[in-house]
Amino acid sequence: MAVRDAASLLVGLFVIFHTWGAWADVDVNMEDRVEVIMGETAQITCMFTSSEGIGGMMIQWSYVTRSGEKQRIFYQDSTMKVVERGTPFTERISVNGTGATGEVVLTISDVQLADEVEFVCYIRGLTDGSGEGRTKLKVFKTPDLPTIEHLQKEISVNEKDMVKIGTCEVKNGFPKPNITWYSNTTPLRSVPNVMKVVPRSTIESSGLFSVTSELNMKVVKEHKDDEFYCEVTYFVPGGTRMTETYRINITVFYPSTAVNAWVESPKGKIKEGDSIELHCVGNGNSPSSVISFKRLEDDKTWEQKVLLLPNVSRLDSGGYECTSLDTDTFESVSDNISIFVNYLDPAVVMPQENVIVAQGADLKATCNALSSLQTQTVWIKDGQEVSKGHTLMVEKATFDKAGTYMCVVTVPEIEGMETSGTLLLNVRGPPEILNRDNTEREESYETMVDLSCHVRGYPTPKVIWTTSDGKVLGTASEIVTEDGVKSEVSIKVTSDITAFCNASNEAGTDVLIFNIKATENSTTPPATTTTTTTTTTTNTTNTTATTTPISSTTVKPASAIPKKNPKEGSGAIIAAIIICILLLAILGSVLFFLYKKGKICGRSGKQDLTKDKSSKDNIVVEMKSDNTEEAVLLGVNGEKQPAGDQSSEYLDVQK
Ligand SMILES: *[C@@H]1O[C@H](CO)[C@@H](O)[C@H](O)[C@H]1NC(C)=O
Ligand SMILES: *[C@@H]1O[C@H](CO)[C@@H](O)[C@H](O)[C@H]1NC(C)=O
Ligand SMILES: *[C@@H]1O[C@H](CO)[C@@H](O)[C@H](O)[C@H]1NC(C)=O
Repeated sequence: MAVRDAASLLVGLFVIFHTWGAWADVDVNMEDRVEVIMGETAQITCMFTSSEGIGGMMIQWSYVTRSGEKQRIFYQDSTMKVVERGTPFTERISVNGTGATGEVVLTISDVQLADEVEFVCYIRGLTDGSGEGRTKLKVFKTPDLPTIEHLQKEISVNEKDMVKIGTCEVKNGFPKPNITWYSNTTPLRSVPNVMKVVPRSTIESSGLFSVTSELNMKVVKEHKDDEFYCEVTYFVPGGTRMTETYRINITVFYPSTAVNAWVESPKGKIKEGDSIELHCVGNGNSPSSVISFKRLEDDKTWEQKVLLLPNVSRLDSGGYECTSLDTDTFESVSDNISIFVNYLDPAVVMPQENVIVAQGADLKATCNALSSLQTQTVWIKDGQEVSKGHTLMVEKATFDKAGTYMCVVTVPEIEGMETSGTLLLNVRGPPEILNRDNTEREESYETMVDLSCHVRGYPTPKVIWTTSDGKVLGTASEIVTEDGVKSEVSIKVTSDITAFCNASNEAGTDVLIFNIKATENSTTPPATTTTTTTTTTTNTTNTTATTTPISSTTVKPASAIPKKNPKEGSGAIIAAIIICILLLAILGSVLFFLYKKGKICGRSGKQDLTKDKSSKDNIVVEMKSDNTEEAVLLGVNGEKQPAGDQSSEYLDVQK
């Protein structure tokens, strides 16, 4: 109480003296604080007024030491300026102004941390009046750029304790800078058992502060995309600033809570023969989780994320389970997919393969292929679709309907799924010779004429070529076709010829007659020419005489009808030639003998000779049809020889 009263009294007195002007009073005016960056220059202004006027003032600068004492650093009056020796400021200070203006400025260059003290400006007038002002100097040092250290980069959520994520450090700041950890935009604070931010600051020998901060955290899955960084705030003259470190992120390992399995390929329905690719992924991220596939049918297991099943069959159909097992916790999750492999069995045609149907009869055939899917069936003959559906109906069978029918079974839902079967339909009926034109011809003597006969009918007709005088002609070629046979002969024109193509099977006979008129060739021998320049026609009457109606009787096949194995033929040729030569020799010698005996002119001999004469040079008859055929076919190197050579293979035989 006493102190208070005394203070009030003093104030009262002061006011009284001031008003009265009894004491010469000095008013000193200074800023509370001056802020400066370390190393730069600080200016502290001291302004003063006095009722006496301001001339001849004594000005003294000092600072307050740690112990609270004032230490003078500068002194001036109207006559001198003195820098106090031996102080920390001796070398770095100067004072502007004489005091005559009522303002002096203390300039301190190269400000140091230790300069952060209170400066006192003391003014004393000529009389006893005096005053002082004080300014605190504040020094700042911008810290170095902060650094961040990434400690643990891969962290499993299975970790029971908090994990050191990183450390931030900022060095050499003044005053002490602060470090704040951020996750994305959220400042992080310590939370028991969840997060711990440990700051640590040190004072360097220079007096500057260095600060570190360590972030410890219990990692959860949600942190997987977080970015962590530090923000450093520090004071600067007039405010605060901040800088940030770069961002770090952590890889969080967490187990899957679900897996997803699917068929990667093929897309759509699966068929036998496809290669299947199954994929499986979990929603976790963990090196300790193992993904495997299991076929439920037989528990067969594959330890892989991608399961390839090449060339599947219907037996691969079934359920497949994908499991993700965490080998740390032995927890597992799984997903099931089921696979269905579609199939299409080979087509089964009923009746099977070769079917014989009588002319005019009906045929019903079916084609079936077992499939897991809907199928479509079409029947195709000679490249044309003839029927839809799995049943084929052939009504009133004709030769035109004979042939190969193919049924094609497809699965419309799956491209390329197809099978097929065939049916050969034979229509039973008597021979029917096609292409009945070009039967009347004129040919030069000595040329080779090819006659051909195309016969339909089933059973495959036998074709016999004969001449009007009953001789059987050897077939040059015979090709059995789907609906019959094609037969050809080669004849050397030595006279007018009437040739019959007699086709027969058990159901009947058909005959085609060729009439060939032999004409003179202008260019006479040799007989090797095949081209005729001019031909003279001679009328013969007996060529058309043989067109008698044909009865449907079975024609007795000639002794040696074609269709002979060429191998046994070659042996037969040689044998035949030898026999012929022998026969000729015997015949010749007999004739010669008879002639010698003089009996040849008398009886039968004459007749023979006349007949012989009429057909001199012209008769080209093979002894055995197959022999000549083989002779033609088996030329040098197996090639067919030209007509000239070919003719030499024929044997002129008289019967
Ligand atoms: C640092 O943190 C302290 C305590 O929260 C605070 O008083 C001070 O102003 C902060 N410094 C800066 C530069 O923000
Ligand atoms: C952080 O993650 C992103 C993508 O997740 C990546 O591109 C980047 O390199 C990561 N940064 C660090 C510091 O790991
Ligand atoms: C071939 O048919 C004709 C005409 O019907 C007949 O004269 C001839 O005898 C038949 N020949 C054979 C070998 O059947």
